[in-house]
Amino acid sequence: MADTIAQVQTSVGESRRILIFDTTLRDGEQSPGCSMNLREKLEVAQALADLGVDIIEAGFPIASPGDFEAVREIARQVRGPVICGLARCRPEDIDRAWEAVRYADRPRIHVFLATSPIHREYKLRMTKQQIIERAVEGVRRALSYCPDVEFSPEDATRTELEFLCQVLEAVIAAGATTVNIPDTVGYATPRQMFELIANLRNRVPNIDKAVISVHCHNDLGLAVANSLASIEAGAGQVECTINGLGERAGNCALEEVVMALRTRHDYYRAHTEIHTQRLVPTSRLVSGITGMVVQRNKAIVGQNAFAHEAGIHQDGILKERSTYEIMRPEDVGFTTTQLVLGKHSGRAALADRARALGYRLTPEQLNAVFEEFKLLADKKKEIYDSDLAALIEQEIAHVPDRWTFDSYRVSTASGQTPQVWLRLRRGEQMLEIELADGDGPIDAVFLAIEKLTGLSLVCKDFRVHSVSVGKDAQAEVNVEVEYQNRLYRGRGLSTDTVEASARAFLNAINRILALSNGLNAGRKAAETQPTN
Ligand code: KIV
Ligand code: ZN
Repeated sequence: MADTIAQVQTSVGESRRILIFDTTLRDGEQSPGCSMNLREKLEVAQALADLGVDIIEAGFPIASPGDFEAVREIARQVRGPVICGLARCRPEDIDRAWEAVRYADRPRIHVFLATSPIHREYKLRMTKQQIIERAVEGVRRALSYCPDVEFSPEDATRTELEFLCQVLEAVIAAGATTVNIPDTVGYATPRQMFELIANLRNRVPNIDKAVISVHCHNDLGLAVANSLASIEAGAGQVECTINGLGERAGNCALEEVVMALRTRHDYYRAHTEIHTQRLVPTSRLVSGITGMVVQRNKAIVGQNAFAHEAGIHQDGILKERSTYEIMRPEDVGFTTTQLVLGKHSGRAALADRARALGYRLTPEQLNAVFEEFKLLADKKKEIYDSDLAALIEQEIAHVPDRWTFDSYRVSTASGQTPQVWLRLRRGEQMLEIELADGDGPIDAVFLAIEKLTGLSLVCKDFRVHSVSVGKDAQAEVNVEVEYQNRLYRGRGLSTDTVEASARAFLNAINRILALSNGLNAGRKAAETQPTN
């Protein structure tokens, strides 16, 4: 059966090619606390290119100088996919988007304008005729720069069908090459999406001149189902994100829609060009960089996605995998070996294992990971794939370290205020502090860090999980902190939970400093304005 799965999965005769438009760096990055710096965005964009996505929506260039720079650098450096920049239907947005994407081999400008009655009346205060005129002007201006132009009627699924058809006909006549149907608020159901796409195909006279795309949000947990229903009805492009990141409950998860098409090719008769073995490494990279932990039971890329617990299932799997497995873990990038390296393993073994796990490290990154690996091997006898992946992601998700952890000491007991001593490094300087405060050792260390760095934060979320197994397992701590009304995430690793917590807190602080230091300065200026 394993072979049968493989045969079905690779047989793409008579099948429709579905374009994968990834918006992790635009809609995904809009999730609170998911901001990435330039270096991180470039890492993610390169990973998306390696994954084989067709289009990367690299950002919203008018939103801030940081967004602009990121889109421009991705357009300059990342080869393979179409590189797309988002713009409202405003001349200044479109000009800025072009300035950023023009360096790509294949640039795309994506213009959007809301069309639903709610948005027309309350947000835009525009008539239907004005909407059509503005949309056409936007498409024409974008086309004056590049031949690949996508148009999105924002909140399409709550727009009157008749009017939506008129808008689409007008923008296609103006030259839009892709028309995207966003379910902006995640309101649609699969059957409605199917009917909507089918209706558009029947009613918009020039629809065959453009690719129909869908962009589904997950507010009701239906984003993937809605995207698949749209494909069934004839959509040729799906907009999605790694791990389903995105505004509010997120967007359609790339890994889920891709594997549904592949595993149920018999049903959908459609395929993508995604290198599915790179799904897990890409998911880990994005999770490591954004700090958005992937839930254990998440479809396709969750740690438990292929774990069989029930005795009956285990028995079945041992006799014949297809009894309880519809996909092979290796097809999505899970590796079969678990125990990997130890104290005496060398750099070549580590490089080999990193490659097998799907990471492409530069010589500098390999050196840095090897240093960390040796330190870890002193504390921990056996190093598992998950330990190694965590070390690599920590290195890749690099935030310029203004502050680094050096050492700490805490003494505490039930009912007593903890006494903490902490030493941090800032550049060449070592700074120490001693205080008695907090509700426990971790709170005390956080308070000491706030005092030393001079930043006052509100800790909104704190999670610890063990990276691998055993008493000496590394703890991974993820924190979410609020600073000046914005959320930032931080991640820290150590075999000592208090130290991992301190590292996570400092990682969040370094992120705040990097973002307020011009790497992403002023980003999301446009978020405070109406979106159209
Ligand atoms: O959800 C939405 O409507 C969007 C558009 C900009 C496509 O993200
Ligand atoms: Zn969206």
